[in-house]
Amino acid sequence: MASKRRPCLVSCFLGILLNALIGGVCGAELSLKLEPSDIIAVQEQPLMLHCQVHGIPPITTQWRRNGLLLTQERHYTTFINGSLLIAHFQKTKSDGSSDEGDYECMAQNSFGRVVSRKARIQAASKLLYYS
Ligand SMILES: *[C@@H]1O[C@H](CO)[C@@H](O)[C@H](O)[C@H]1NC(C)=O
Repeated sequence: MASKRRPCLVSCFLGILLNALIGGVCGAELSLKLEPSDIIAVQEQPLMLHCQVHGIPPITTQWRRNGLLLTQERHYTTFINGSLLIAHFQKTKSDGSSDEGDYECMAQNSFGRVVSRKARIQAASKLLYYS
């Protein structure tokens, strides 16, 4: 019985040891290098939000607006460097939704994940850029 269990115990122990070693020595934990900042956005213009993370690849970056995950569609592009591009910023879209809100990025690798600060994105009033 005891000898059957050993391979599992050994591999579990090695796994923990390896994690601790890599985590401790190489700094496997993800850290944010660049977080999105609050922006007053101009309507109908492209808007780019930045998020750069330090850590062991592969790292995947996703964005949330008001807590909801932004899926890849024509309106939003998430670049490999973590930046999010909103093609045409709209305060009110045809379906009644808005690009305004609190944006945050989440980055993940096999060691863990980090979440950025929330960046408040507001549309500039039209008066502001017509004057
Ligand atoms: C990320 O890549 C995009 C597209 O190449 C670029 O426009 C953007 O400036 C890059 N972000 C940073 C923080 O350099």
